[in-house]
Amino acid sequence: MTRQALWLRCEKKEFERRAALTPTTAKRLIDAGFDITVERDDQRIFNDSEYEAVGCKLVENNSWPQAPKDIPIIGLKELPESDEPLPHEHIQFAHCYKTQAGWSSVLARFYKGGGKLYDLEFLNDANGRRVAAFGYHAGFAGAAAGALALAAQKQGKTLGLLEPYVNEDAMIASVKESLGGSGKGVKALVIGALGRCGRGAVDLFRRIGLDEDDILKWDMAETAKGGPFQEILDVDIFVNCIYLTSPIPHFVTHEQIRAAGKSRPLSVVVDVSCDTTNPNNPIPIYNVNTTFSKPTVPAEVGEGNPPLSVISIDHLPTLLPREASEQFSSDLLPSLLEFPDRASARVWTDAEKLFREKLAEAAKVEGLVLSYIVVSGKENWFGDNDSAETKSKSHGTDGYDGSREEDVERAAWHNCGTPDDRTVLSSVGHWATTWRAGV
Ligand SMILES: NC(=O)c1ccc[n+]([C@@H]2O[C@H](COP(=O)([O-])OP(=O)(O)OC[C@H]3O[C@@H](n4cnc5c(N)ncnc54)[C@H](O)[C@@H]3O)[C@@H](O)[C@H]2O)c1
Repeated sequence: MTRQALWLRCEKKEFERRAALTPTTAKRLIDAGFDITVERDDQRIFNDSEYEAVGCKLVENNSWPQAPKDIPIIGLKELPESDEPLPHEHIQFAHCYKTQAGWSSVLARFYKGGGKLYDLEFLNDANGRRVAAFGYHAGFAGAAAGALALAAQKQGKTLGLLEPYVNEDAMIASVKESLGGSGKGVKALVIGALGRCGRGAVDLFRRIGLDEDDILKWDMAETAKGGPFQEILDVDIFVNCIYLTSPIPHFVTHEQIRAAGKSRPLSVVVDVSCDTTNPNNPIPIYNVNTTFSKPTVPAEVGEGNPPLSVISIDHLPTLLPREASEQFSSDLLPSLLEFPDRASARVWTDAEKLFREKLAEAAKVEGLVLSYIVVSGKENWFGDNDSAETKSKSHGTDGYDGSREEDVERAAWHNCGTPDDRTVLSSVGHWATTWRAGV
């Protein structure tokens, strides 16, 4: 049996020290018949030698563009901006399925290269739940940042640069020290407490010494009465961890904060959910994402009132790169073990289907030509830029060359049935036909 190859690329995003594969998961994959190539990367929290020790092959930093086209590339975050075509299969977070800024040009790179994207954000189990997510450590780190901001504020200071911690214990020690040895006496409210981020936030508060009664844990039941909520103003730190799916009443507002005057205990808001630019953001008291170098932004509180800091960092797990990577990668492992069967394994076929849908949307926006025909019930996709060889391959063994319009038409007619099945989407340069409906 041939071994499945997988190539762990370096991360280029600033401050990103996490990895999609850890030495632990790489070893599990190698034991299961994978060949793992790892790019050397000083930025990564795991040393190159840790991967080498478990049998990975090390290669130069950022050398994946030269990797053989049939080796899938795994990474975490977005690739640096570029127009370069992407011919490989990529497993990563690409942040281009929700019409984020630049989404269609990212997908256009896959279109031009004939590559494929399996977006980690959309790998779901049979119940529609993410197979792997970084939520727990986002909440954990967000709550820690909130406690650090509170400590700074008590000393009349503003929280400065946040840097990744070697592990959870180091983070907890640092937060406790900043609070004078313990968080005892601090009161916190976590909304979304039953979710991944929420559980992490609650655990951090416990581990820095808050009394259990001083950690208010709210989820759907508690917010059902509808905001704004006075209870938020009555704690020192409010951490929002909800997964926002529809418009809801605001949790806290400027008017409420101003009206509370000088008697407001609330000093820090941590918006882990970070629906910053979402028109339905339930915390409309800030409008920017904060960063590790400038973690807080002051909320407008009304003249003479105590300050209120907001933290809205959208990549919090980076503060705990080792544990966050271990947890994420081990949750991803069962799906990765099915990757050699990705043509039939549901988690991967669903991800590919979604990619095809998004690619088609992007192709329209970018004015690209995208076509597929169905051979033996299977969609075969190709772009206008594909070589004759690719087109020919995508037509299976039916003997159609595919490099000429009439060949593709004949193959499509042959395989797809009636002319009614055919929908002409666009015509750029020469022919361009998409087949759908009932095929
Ligand atoms: N800032 C970061 O670095 C970072 C990292 C990871 C995730 N996130 C974000 O955090 C959010 C939560 O992610 P998660 O993985 O924990 O989701 P999750 O689905 O595991 O948990 C969300 C929780 O919110 C609760 N909830 C939803 N609507 C609510 C409401 N109106 N009132 C009260 N509770 C409500 C749900 O019942 C659930 O328990 C998402 O928006 C995610 O994108 C941010």
